[in-house]
Amino acid sequence: MCGIFAYAGTKNAVPLLIEGLRSVEYRGYDSAGISVIDSYGEIQTMKRGDHKSSLENLANAVGDSLLSGLVGIGHTRWATHGEVNQQNSHPHSSNNGSVSIAHNGIVENFIELKDRLVDSGIEFQSETDSEVLAHLVGNAVASGNSLREAVINAASQIKGNTAIVAVSTAEPDLVVGLRVGNAGGIVVGKNDDVAVMASDTIALLPYTSEVIYIEPNEVVEIEKGDVRIFDLAGSVIDREPIVTSQNFEAAQKGNHPHFMSKEIAEQPEAIQGAMRGRADFSNGTLTLPEISLTSEQMRSLDRVILTGMGTSLHAAMFGASVIESLSRIPAYAENSSELRYRNPVLGPNTLVVAVTQSGETADTLAAMEHARSAGAPQGVVLELEGSQATRIAEFTLPIRAGQEIGVASTKTMIASMTTLLQLAVVLAETREAIDSDQVKVIVESMSELPSLVASALGINGQISELSERLSKFEDLLYLGRGAQLPIALEGALKMKELAYIHAEGYPAGEMKHGVNALLGSDMATVVSAPQNDLYEKMLSNISEVKARGGEVVAIATEGDETIKRVADHVIYVPECPELLQPFMTLIPMQLLSYRTALVLGRDPDKPRNLAKTVTVE
Ligand code: F6R
Repeated sequence: MCGIFAYAGTKNAVPLLIEGLRSVEYRGYDSAGISVIDSYGEIQTMKRGDHKSSLENLANAVGDSLLSGLVGIGHTRWATHGEVNQQNSHPHSSNNGSVSIAHNGIVENFIELKDRLVDSGIEFQSETDSEVLAHLVGNAVASGNSLREAVINAASQIKGNTAIVAVSTAEPDLVVGLRVGNAGGIVVGKNDDVAVMASDTIALLPYTSEVIYIEPNEVVEIEKGDVRIFDLAGSVIDREPIVTSQNFEAAQKGNHPHFMSKEIAEQPEAIQGAMRGRADFSNGTLTLPEISLTSEQMRSLDRVILTGMGTSLHAAMFGASVIESLSRIPAYAENSSELRYRNPVLGPNTLVVAVTQSGETADTLAAMEHARSAGAPQGVVLELEGSQATRIAEFTLPIRAGQEIGVASTKTMIASMTTLLQLAVVLAETREAIDSDQVKVIVESMSELPSLVASALGINGQISELSERLSKFEDLLYLGRGAQLPIALEGALKMKELAYIHAEGYPAGEMKHGVNALLGSDMATVVSAPQNDLYEKMLSNISEVKARGGEVVAIATEGDETIKRVADHVIYVPECPELLQPFMTLIPMQLLSYRTALVLGRDPDKPRNLAKTVTVE
């Protein structure tokens, strides 16, 4: 979603702001803009609301202009209030042009504030909720407050989670950032004569690997080579930078046409990363040193709730299924936007495990905060260390997939699944639901996982033909059972978000209860049917679809000749222990949606209306 980048230094900020915005564009955006303080001390703003071309058009426009300055703020907008156009793009200025702000989050009481400001004679230039902040900050500066005081004052009048950056002609060397609640992070860094601020660590990496994360209810000033953090009462906060492990190369496409294809191909390494230092393949043991729960606590758990959104929810569903089957603790996964509002019964014996690659998803953070206040022990499975979720959870299990840039999650899902499988094994062993010999068998099979996934990735050929075929349909059905259900749901989600084809994921057993009404030659069905205890049931489901004239693509275990007799098309994945089958069947689901998106001329890295980091609910 919206991204921020700000610079205060000794070079022309304009091209650096554009570069900074390029680093955060993967979050998802439809507009882009910058404000700089020029050599006369005036604020100059340029912005574009041209959907996906916004940043390129802005880069061209600033390239053709004489715009320059040593201090500035930049923003990529993801529209919530007001359509996508130039006026609604950030930054927004106060009426006299002395203040410019960019904002992430939603000002929930903006109508009331706007009415008040309009009554006082302020003219609004946009339809956004954010513009009220420009005027509130502008008014507070005009009344003699410092920029920092003015930003705090404005934030105190609004409702909703917020991250703001602001510049003012009254203090032309300074950028102020403020964070209230969870509307995307703010991270700052400096080197000798430069200080930078962004919503994402990756944007700081060209300047420094030593970064400071700003917490909710904190305000930060950056100025040439200097970073100062305060609480909202004005007391100085002394915080040492931490050295980030993210690296810039990982965020480049390399020889791949898209980040998504690169990230799909990186999955064997992502799995290795998630197992590194945890699975000991020579001794057949598994440890998760990050878990802060005592063995006694793990033994007294009577429930595990996993939570997340979208693809992370599907990884959580897989996690629930392996935790329950291995450790015999009742476990289920629930959408965070539901969990946060339904006042669930939680307590010291319920372990809550949040799954969120970004660690910034607003609903997931809210569900986590709810669990924390209810006294439930809590862990988070994530990629982006340093993100807000790590500060809410009691313990963090990093998935170590390497930063994912494609909006559609692929390698972070498989690395989350790997991490959750390991959590299941550790819980099961601690609770003596499995013994060390059984752990050894599982660890041995996990050692094969990277190469099994690598060979599943080799099926690309058949996928191209099938994608051509699937691209002809307007409706698709995805079916699975047991641990294959989250994979079917993920297949449907990926097809919707990337190819924009209507796709439904369903438990196969649910078909007779309504879904069969849709079957016919105008809907194809993708069935995840590897050989396991539920295989025969899946064969029956395929026959039901065929009997009603439907076309079936089956994802099956290599060597399965029977399935060829019922399905129209078969994609084979490597044979492996049942516990690992979801890792195999996930691969064709990802490839089918990627290839179908290409057939239909969609951009798989930037699907329409979607954001990588969903910082508002
Ligand atoms: C779909 C996708 C999204 C995310 C969801 C949660 O491909 O990527 O559904 O999974 O927005 O994001 P995180 O994992 O950052 O909490």
